[in-house]
Amino acid sequence: MTSDLRDELQQSLAADYVLEDELPRGGMSRVFLAVERSLNRKVVLKVLDPELAATLSAERFKREIALAARLQHPHIVPLLHAGAVDGKLFYSMPFVEGESLRELMSRERPMSIDRISQILLEIAGALDFAHTEGVVHRDIKPENVMFFHGQAVVLDFGIAKAVSNATAASGVSASTPPRLTLQGTSLGTPTYIAPEQAAGDPTLDHRADIYSVGCVAYEMLTGHPPFRGKSPQQVMIAHAKEAPEPIGRRRPDAPAVLLKLVMKCLEKSPDHRPQRAADIVRALRPASSGGNGSLRSLLQRMPWWLPWALAVVSTAAAIALAFTRRA
Ligand SMILES: Nc1ncnc2c1ncn2[C@@H]1O[C@H](COP(=O)(O)OP(=O)(O)OP(=O)(O)O)[C@@H](O)[C@H]1O
Ligand SMILES: [Mg+2]
Repeated sequence: MTSDLRDELQQSLAADYVLEDELPRGGMSRVFLAVERSLNRKVVLKVLDPELAATLSAERFKREIALAARLQHPHIVPLLHAGAVDGKLFYSMPFVEGESLRELMSRERPMSIDRISQILLEIAGALDFAHTEGVVHRDIKPENVMFFHGQAVVLDFGIAKAVSNATAASGVSASTPPRLTLQGTSLGTPTYIAPEQAAGDPTLDHRADIYSVGCVAYEMLTGHPPFRGKSPQQVMIAHAKEAPEPIGRRRPDAPAVLLKLVMKCLEKSPDHRPQRAADIVRALRPASSGGNGSLRSLLQRMPWWLPWALAVVSTAAAIALAFTRRA
């Protein structure tokens, strides 16, 4: 991508945005801080790599992104706008003034079990909502989780799919992350992708996100992802064939329920993983609510009429006792 892309972009978008600093780029796009003129607010503009954009259908990309733009949830960073100007595909989102999970993990080593459980709970909550709305993330990784006032928020929902699907017409597998297939650029690291996603399975579903959450959880607990290799290919083979090293050895302080949950997310077959992100939320809620969780979940599972029945029985008992005493 040429260095004057910034000037070109500023020119094309002058009516709507004032471009400010450029942020460190990711694998697919260049990222600019900008002020959206109409509402005078800070946003982030992501401009897809021109080489990648050249392989996409702009219309299809915008259509796919529109699905993700419907997501409104406290742990999801919304998409604000997607467009095409002078052959450049871009989208915008609110600027999150906080650190990413990648930065948090390098600052806090080891991370506390409570903090890990809370972050997982928030990511799983976001995923459960998106999955229910029919949106699979496909690129869950520490760079796509940021913290806003201490709460985890998930970024870039639907982008991987929008890019893959809009590329599908050009013969590239629709399930493979674009970074892995982009011609002429360095291969990204498939550190967090599910075996079926690495294999290019076109039928992959939301359970691929559950595997990626397992990889992120594993890294928060142990300080490194489940599989590391010299090349992306080696890592993809390990996702398909190797068992991750047990976590307990590195984190003897982790409760068994959390270890079991993370290893279940990392199952090779989607059928053996938690089937819904809501299962992760349910499994974690007790551990992350400071010991009251079991009581809370018991109360939540109680039939609605039970407290009323108990109240009626105890009132009747009190009246009966009063009569017995008087007699
Ligand atoms: N909405 C945002 N608010 C603040 N910073 C952001 C925002 N979105 C991205 N960033 C920053 O810009 C960096 C690059 O983001 P980008 O999404 O392009 O890359 P990535 O997530 O590392 O890779 P990918 O290309 O797979 O998305 C991020 O690591 C993050 O630090
Ligand atoms: Mg990202």
